[in-house]
Amino acid sequence: MPQITVTTRSGEKHVLEAAVNQTLMEVIRDSSIDGMDAICGGCCSCATCHIYVDPDFVDQLPPVSEDEEILLDGSNHRKPEVSRLSCQIRVSDSLNGLVLQIAPED
Ligand code: FES
Repeated sequence: MPQITVTTRSGEKHVLEAAVNQTLMEVIRDSSIDGMDAICGGCCSCATCHIYVDPDFVDQLPPVSEDEEILLDGSNHRKPEVSRLSCQIRVSDSLNGLVLQIAPED
């Protein structure tokens, strides 16, 4: 099972086991970590699942869709290259070891 290291807004690090094909949002939301509201449930309409992905993994992620782009653009905390919506990324074996940080709340 791929492992993902998540840093919370308060700086705590958690290593989570992630099932292949779950979204990163689901992995975080279903853990004991606070701070992932995911209000829309993964429909790509709220941006409350905003994360920063370790730059080493950016190339392994699916491209940003038009809807994701619009939502990320509306965030005051968007960072070039590393900002993503965690509900738009599915876990795969190639993401084993992924490191990410939950972005500040807008
Ligand atoms: S959970 Fe709403 S956009 Fe990701």
